Amino acid sequence: MNWQTLQKSLRDYPITPYLSDYPQSCRDFSWNAIRDHLQGLPDGNGLNIAHEAVDRHADSPRGGYLALRWLGRSGQVRDYTYRQLREFSNRFANVLRNLGVAKGDRVYAMTGRIPELYFTALGALKIGAVFCPLFSAFGPEPIRARLEIGEGKVLVTTARLFQRRKIAELRAALPALQHILIIDEDDTGAAIPGTQDFRALLEAASPEFVIPPTHPEDMALLHFTSGTTGRPKGAVHVHAAAAMHYYTGRAVLDIQAHDTFWCTADPGWVTGTTYGILAPWLCGAANLVDEDEFNAERWYRTLQDQQVSVWYTAPTAIRLLMKYGDELPRQFDLSRLRFLASVGEPLNPEAVVWGQNVLGRPFHDTWWQTETGGIMIANLPALDIKPGSMGRPLPGVEAAIVRRTRFGGIEPITQAGEEGELALRVGWPSLCRTYLNEDRRYRECFADGYYLSGDLARRDEDGYYWFVGRADDVIKSAGHLISPFEVESVLLEHPAVAEAGVIGKPDPVAMTLVKAFVSLKPGHEPSEELRRAILGLARQRLGPAVAPRELEFQANLPKTRSGKIMRRLLKARELGLPEGDLSTLEGNEG
Ligand code: WT7
Repeated sequence: MNWQTLQKSLRDYPITPYLSDYPQSCRDFSWNAIRDHLQGLPDGNGLNIAHEAVDRHADSPRGGYLALRWLGRSGQVRDYTYRQLREFSNRFANVLRNLGVAKGDRVYAMTGRIPELYFTALGALKIGAVFCPLFSAFGPEPIRARLEIGEGKVLVTTARLFQRRKIAELRAALPALQHILIIDEDDTGAAIPGTQDFRALLEAASPEFVIPPTHPEDMALLHFTSGTTGRPKGAVHVHAAAAMHYYTGRAVLDIQAHDTFWCTADPGWVTGTTYGILAPWLCGAANLVDEDEFNAERWYRTLQDQQVSVWYTAPTAIRLLMKYGDELPRQFDLSRLRFLASVGEPLNPEAVVWGQNVLGRPFHDTWWQTETGGIMIANLPALDIKPGSMGRPLPGVEAAIVRRTRFGGIEPITQAGEEGELALRVGWPSLCRTYLNEDRRYRECFADGYYLSGDLARRDEDGYYWFVGRADDVIKSAGHLISPFEVESVLLEHPAVAEAGVIGKPDPVAMTLVKAFVSLKPGHEPSEELRRAILGLARQRLGPAVAPRELEFQANLPKTRSGKIMRRLLKARELGLPEGDLSTLEGNEG
């Protein structure tokens, strides 16, 4: 089906978008001009994201403005002004300093969306430590792997998650982990041996803190992402990325100082940190945080009651809202919404148009990755929307469709409509600087001055980019990037499992679901009971966000002659697609 372009006009907006003339902005663009919007630390002491996001405003007439409004799961509301955020983050910076945490040390948070998470992120950045978020729906194994790779020194978590994820049992395997700070969210007052009470430390710490000199290239954020093979990769981001967080907050999401901005992503992932913590504050807006999970009615009520003006959410959530029908949103006054955007997985054209028809504004798809550290391609406020397309590269970003050549180079594909790998010319400020301790894997992502994204895409004759798929086996489920390797490794821990192969299976809402195929060791027979036991183990070890939803037994998994499970073939067979080149398949001696 052909979707009509949604024509945009500046008259659609009650206030002029920050980026209102795309061609002009492309012509005039300079990263230095963007950097000039940042203030820098006093006395020429460098650049610190937390200063730019909070302290700068706290010291200005905006200091008394709402910076964070937190909506608790059971109806609590807590408000923090920029000045209060400065105070709480200063306190936490002092807590860390008192614990002996130094520049470059890794401070992990696994808390769910509660106010302490925000103090933790800012406090860590202020002392020059590295903030590393962990998704609260991770099980013990993804937690352990990420803490180990990043040599986490401090873990901030809640009493509930500490118990549920069996953190005490992980400790012996994590020698670098010196401090666990517990947020006692139910006020039980019960002390957990070997941990310290977050709130008590915060209370006792001084509210005064002077940010030490920070170099723009100092490591600031560590975000784990998944590859097809091997362990999770820790993408290293630096303070200089603040320029991109600020720029994209303005130019793509159009966050202005009087806005109430709501990013529904969890800060356990890069979107929730970049746009759920930093970008709205860099732009001086009010940042709305809802602790609760998806709930259609609650979401519409929140959009209405909190007068959300800019909303950044994900395709899976939009598709869920659509399933609840058009009547529900019509019961709410959503007229404050000015700009809607989406990220993380393909946004189907129906969803874009549904936004326009039912919510009164279209959804704007945006594309980026953990590695890019900020939005790179987007349906920008002042550009016409082609529903189903990811949009156009931001001014300052140079994208290309390329083909890899045999000798490690790339070749541009200039023909409109032809499929190839999406590549970006190096030079924007938030590109991750390496994968922690895995510089070789990082360097493999580059050729001829371009960063290669691993995504397949097409560019049309108007310069819009269209997502085609991943070039590798990595799975995107409900917007979360999942490594089949990480899942297979846990399945293999079950004593009955001989081999495991994991694929993404299409799903109308989550886009893809994780599906596992396993073969059993001699002496084990497939049974419903065994299927449940293996799935149960996976869920316990990996957590609900990563564990497979489906499991199928197969006597033999298709392998290459070198013994590698052919996920591609498992997938083709599952979907009834052509099996492709089988020349390397084991047993195919032709
Ligand atoms: C991968 C990156 C959510 C951004 C940060 C998370 C897929 C991202 C889109 C989009 C189709 C998309 C790509 C990309 N993706 N945005 N608009 N349309 N696919 O980043 O977890 O590192 O995932 O998400 O495959 O490579 P991430």
